[in-house]
Amino acid sequence: MAAMFKLASLPLVLMLALGPATLAADEHSADYVTGAPRQPTKAWTLSAGGRLYDSWMEALGVPGPKTTHPAWPASNTKRRGNVTWRCKSCHGWDYLGASGNYGAGPYFTGIPGVRGVIGKDLDEIIKIISDDTHGYTDAMIPPTAKRRLALFLSEGQGTVADVIRPSGSIKGNADRGGPIFQNTCAACHGYDGRALGLGRDHDEFVGTIARTNPWEVLHKIRNGQPGQNMISLRAFPIEVAAPTRARCPTSDAEAASARGFPRFVQFVTKPETMLQRDGCYYAPRPARRHLHLWRGAGAVQ
Ligand code: HEC
Ligand code: HEC
Repeated sequence: MAAMFKLASLPLVLMLALGPATLAADEHSADYVTGAPRQPTKAWTLSAGGRLYDSWMEALGVPGPKTTHPAWPASNTKRRGNVTWRCKSCHGWDYLGASGNYGAGPYFTGIPGVRGVIGKDLDEIIKIISDDTHGYTDAMIPPTAKRRLALFLSEGQGTVADVIRPSGSIKGNADRGGPIFQNTCAACHGYDGRALGLGRDHDEFVGTIARTNPWEVLHKIRNGQPGQNMISLRAFPIEVAAPTRARCPTSDAEAASARGFPRFVQFVTKPETMLQRDGCYYAPRPARRHLHLWRGAGAVQ
């Protein structure tokens, strides 16, 4: 009887977790990006809140304001418009605001972080998000999304300092991160981390961003990428998410014979014309157009 129960309950549990298989593949993807599970787990809600913190506009699939946020200081002329409405732009990827990584550079605003609200009541946090300083109306960020944001701030920030030192060096262990990278991230980012060209010019990769901004990468590993069907490691302990630096080819010869991006580059440029930075090889400017086409085509098999 016990065995029968087990046999019968396994598919049932799967069905409950998966829901009816009625959505087409792209609808599934859209549902993952802007939808919600019918019975959201706490880990899901925390990661959804983290994606809203990153960019509530991307997470909700809305364009957001074109104006500069009224609380953005006039003294910072490096950033203006839409980006100044992202929580991370004022409060930082390390949630420390001006006393952390945004204490200098193009996102310096002098605004404090959000670690002061850890453990606070959600309604109190929602009140702050909706106050006159912030100006996020319910039409901009609906109440359910504000609650997810508040839960993330109250219970989901984690202790970043356990993983990344203030200097930016990572207390990670490549022997433990490598297996995770190769078995999860590589499905989309490639074994060498170059399958997706990131950033405005598509010339950044997971490894290069992990070098310059490990706080951002840690946040995205834990919460996913808003507006994209990237996975989130929120269901695992924060140590698991210590950013993995994707390996870069170390020589022209290796770059020319390696998989993925470098092999593609062979089609459009000679390896010796590639740029080297931080030990990674990049296609020079003219090749980026082709990189774009390649991304559009989807594969380099
Ligand atoms: C343009 C800058 C700016 C943006 C963007 C911004 N904030 Fe703030 N935030 C502030 C300022 C300034 C304060 C401090 C207000 C004060 O001292 O009264 C603050 C304070 C807070 C606090 C209180 C922190 C504490 O320890 O008391 C929370 C929580 C908070 N913000 C959440 C958010 C969330 C969530 C978002 C995104 C939806 C966001 N903020 C976006 C400027 C910003
Ligand atoms: C299911 C596919 C998928 C998986 C698995 C995946 N990602 Fe992503 N990731 C994406 C997509 C899509 C983007 C957005 C690309 C774009 O903006 O063009 C992205 C973006 C990113 C970015 C954002 C860079 C930026 O600032 O724009 C980082 C960092 C990142 N991924 C790291 C990782 C890591 C580390 C893992 C493994 C833990 C991982 N990703 C797993 C699909 C995936």
